[in-house]
Amino acid sequence: MHAIEFRDVDFSYGEGGFRINKLNFTVEEGEFVAVLGHNGSGKSTLARLANGILEADGGTITVFDTPLNDKNLYEVRKQVGVVFQNPDNQTVASIVEDDVAFGAENVGTPREEIGRRIGFALSAVGMEEYRHATVARLSGGQKQRVAIAGVLALKPRVMILDESTAMLDPRGRREIVDVVLSLNKKEKITVVLITHFMEEALLADRAVVMNRGEIVMQGAPAEIFRRHEELLTYNLALPRIGEISKRLREGGLDVSDTLDPDTLAEDIAKCVS
Ligand SMILES: Nc1ncnc2c1ncn2[C@@H]1O[C@H](COP(=O)(O)OP(=O)(O)OP(=O)(O)O)[C@@H](O)[C@H]1O
Ligand SMILES: [Mg+2]
Repeated sequence: MHAIEFRDVDFSYGEGGFRINKLNFTVEEGEFVAVLGHNGSGKSTLARLANGILEADGGTITVFDTPLNDKNLYEVRKQVGVVFQNPDNQTVASIVEDDVAFGAENVGTPREEIGRRIGFALSAVGMEEYRHATVARLSGGQKQRVAIAGVLALKPRVMILDESTAMLDPRGRREIVDVVLSLNKKEKITVVLITHFMEEALLADRAVVMNRGEIVMQGAPAEIFRRHEELLTYNLALPRIGEISKRLREGGLDVSDTLDPDTLAEDIAKCVS
């Protein structure tokens, strides 16, 4: 089943501005898709359309076989959770458990069910021992995990993370990536990860590249990253490991065009032994 399907979707913010024309895009149930693209390419717009924050001007957006319309927007939105960039803008209560409960309470979830969901959500993001902690005292990565737990407490079937690692240090980023992988593999939540970190995209089943409101490349991440020249035309860089192996080749070392650090290390060892 398609988790999300865009069929010939048109959208614009207004006359003369950014627009999307006849966009087709699908995410399969259980899939982990990375969305790449330079600033202003339309990634956040795609996310906002998928969960109904924005409304398409034409075409259809379908979530688990239900086409979005004015009447079902609220129900469908509950299935697609979105986590944003800045954890500080997403926290609403000072104590972790209250913060996680907030969204679920707002949609009228029964009291005892909320208790269970807080437990499930905090454990899914590895934050159960912080249930009674003060949000303000947490690290960036921990705050973002609490924000993810708040979305999880709504029991979405799809989770869209819109540059949710962008403001974090490497350790915080790693925490979020680990959580995302476990949500996808263990909880079977469909994941759309919007990111400008190419390393994160390598973990996905499929990568999609956006440019000026269009999907211009898509495929297995390793395949996408093999197309250096094309990526450059969309102002995208290679993952660091790809960049290093490319420069070594340009410098005359016989190393393979690989995105695997161990393979690269072996190739280098062969060159110098
Ligand atoms: N509310 C808005 N009103 C008008 N134009 C907007 C609005 N939001 C975004 N845009 C424009 O739409 C285009 C796409 O924006 P969008 O936020 O989807 O890009 P993005 O790929 O998420 O970029 P970034 O990497 O900077 O987050 C940009 O040119 C942006 O300036
Ligand atoms: Mg954006």
